[in-house]
Amino acid sequence: MILGKLRHGITVLVLAIVASNHGVTSSRVSHSSTGHPTNNAQHQAQINDFPFRNTSLPWDKRVDDLVSRLTLEEIQVQMSRGGAGDLGGPAPAIPRLGIGPYQWDTECLRGDGAAIENATGFPQAIGLAATFSREILYNVARATGQEVRAKYNDFAKRGIFATHTGMSCFSPVINILRDPRWGRNQETYGEDPYLTGVLAENFVKGIQGNNSRFIMTSAGCKHFAVHGGPENIPVSRFSFDAIVSDTDWRMTFLPAFKKCVEAGTYSVMCSYNRLNGVPTCANKKLLTDILRTEWNFKGYVVSDQAAIENIMWAHKYRHNRVDTVAACVNAGTNLELSNNLANPVYMSMIDAINQGKLTENLVRERVKPLFYTRMRLGEFDPVKDNPYAKLSMDQIESTEHQQVAVTAAMKSFVLLKNKGGILPLKKGEYSKVAVLGPMSNDLTQVNGDYPPHQDKSFSTSAFGAIKDIYPNPKHGKVCNDSTVCTKYNKAAVPAIVKDTELVFVALGTGQAVEMEGKDRPDMELPGHQKEILLDVLANSGNAKIILLLFSASPLNITFADQSDRVVAIMECFFPAQSTGKALYNLFCTYV
Ligand SMILES: *[C@@H]1O[C@H](CO)[C@@H](O)[C@H](O)[C@H]1NC(C)=O
Ligand SMILES: *[C@@H]1O[C@H](CO)[C@@H](O)[C@H](O)[C@H]1NC(C)=O
Ligand SMILES: *[C@@H]1O[C@H](CO)[C@@H](O)[C@H](O)[C@H]1NC(C)=O
Ligand SMILES: *[C@@H]1O[C@H](CO)[C@@H](O)[C@H](O)[C@H]1NC(C)=O
Ligand SMILES: *[C@@H]1O[C@H](CO)[C@@H](O)[C@H](O)[C@H]1NC(C)=O
Repeated sequence: MILGKLRHGITVLVLAIVASNHGVTSSRVSHSSTGHPTNNAQHQAQINDFPFRNTSLPWDKRVDDLVSRLTLEEIQVQMSRGGAGDLGGPAPAIPRLGIGPYQWDTECLRGDGAAIENATGFPQAIGLAATFSREILYNVARATGQEVRAKYNDFAKRGIFATHTGMSCFSPVINILRDPRWGRNQETYGEDPYLTGVLAENFVKGIQGNNSRFIMTSAGCKHFAVHGGPENIPVSRFSFDAIVSDTDWRMTFLPAFKKCVEAGTYSVMCSYNRLNGVPTCANKKLLTDILRTEWNFKGYVVSDQAAIENIMWAHKYRHNRVDTVAACVNAGTNLELSNNLANPVYMSMIDAINQGKLTENLVRERVKPLFYTRMRLGEFDPVKDNPYAKLSMDQIESTEHQQVAVTAAMKSFVLLKNKGGILPLKKGEYSKVAVLGPMSNDLTQVNGDYPPHQDKSFSTSAFGAIKDIYPNPKHGKVCNDSTVCTKYNKAAVPAIVKDTELVFVALGTGQAVEMEGKDRPDMELPGHQKEILLDVLANSGNAKIILLLFSASPLNITFADQSDRVVAIMECFFPAQSTGKALYNLFCTYV
């Protein structure tokens, strides 16, 4: 997805015709809905009689029936509206068939990411990977899916089909961490193709649910494929050509996607980059020969946001809309996620058919997985049959989900150094304690990228945890500009650490330093952060120092490792809402 106001904070609510199982219920009809609402009983009876609503028929028969009733114009628009902003989605209602609008762009990385309204904030993906736990991935994904579905149920009831309110996830991210500078390493499960595959499998199973008939939400593995940076250093991700050998492609970049397909994902997202010269969303070898023919994938491929228009504008691989839509549909991309275009590239599909560059038959095949997915989500079955339709807003920050978040955060932390067994701490052993650094009490930067909006009353910080262990610690964040830390209050440090016995220094990156669209130039701590630790060392006598790192990609902390007075170093990644609770539990586990 592209950064910016489209991703977050979309407030345009699309009020459209709501097709419930009981038929088309009336409603306020938006400027963007199509067709004419009808309420008469005869029309209703006819809608209920369509074979695609007959639950005794096999899924493929139902999908075939539904798609056979669509005009090419309807198919074209359904395949063009993958979400993003108030123009990009939802896919509009088809009132004559009693089909409602559907919004395809939901982010479920570890919680209902970027959606309007609050949700539980689980630890960032790279931290989840550091748990090395199938169970944690499954539980976090399951809790996320429950909240996404609960919010969808609530939004749909209110006629809201805005961006990020649906139940089709653009998650998990299963790209391989290769370049330590990549801004999106935090969204991945790290550098290991096998581990990434195992965790992806558990994420997919957790988020899609284990009901034999319905899925809770649909998963979408991304970004397919060989997408691992850059964002912007040294070149733009929108025009980058990933050159890869067959061996590296097969052994490093593809195995996790294969695992994801085997786990039953309904979707895969093609990426921004070219792959050996061919943009992935127009790459037939990737999307058809490997994904569908070799791996037997039956789901849909959605483009990353703007990836299709960029085939013309950034890659210059095709030079007009007709050739671009033909290349992508022929290669195997079912759904365009444009960058909020009023006229997405896929709206030239019929022109491409008329010019003989695409066949109607193929287009009809390509739209089927979209309706199959909606069918398995339960849209065309009686609501009473679907257990997930009952999930309600009490899922959000439920006691169980809070506990899942705390456990995941605790298991994600990696102890890199623990000289003399200083950890776990003993309550009361030290009385003169200080806590400082830009990550010590910042409830935003410890989230990492793609967090849900959270009710901050559930959030706890490192400073909060330490304060509960040792009364009245001295405290200073000492950087005025968060983790970027170009504005460093050097003069404040001596007063904070003077005459202390134990000093916690909380450093790191956060979204201010590494995220989508933002690579790092090197592996050093940002801004003056290294200097903070050096100043603490110089001004704290013999105090013991515990370094807490909140980051994703590798940081060069050789200098801290080499210091005898830095007695413990713990990598905490981005634990999100449970930062303080998890630290408290770990620090004091054995007290
Ligand atoms: C649904 O399909 C079954 C199996 O083909 C058929 O027997 C039944 O009559 C159909 N129901 C309706 C309402 O059409
Ligand atoms: C699905 O998972 C839930 C919760 O983990 C469990 O209680 C239930 O028995 C499972 N159902 C099936 C059909 O496996
Ligand atoms: C969501 O969180 C915000 C910020 O913490 C809070 O003000 C708001 O009341 C929460 N919304 C709901 C519906 O609980
Ligand atoms: C940081 O902010 C404080 C309080 O506003 C100010 O006194 C100080 O000069 C600032 N320091 C830097 C380096 O910007
Ligand atoms: C890490 O920092 C040390 C100094 O503490 C430096 O000597 C080393 O070259 C750095 N390593 C990398 C990979 O940048």
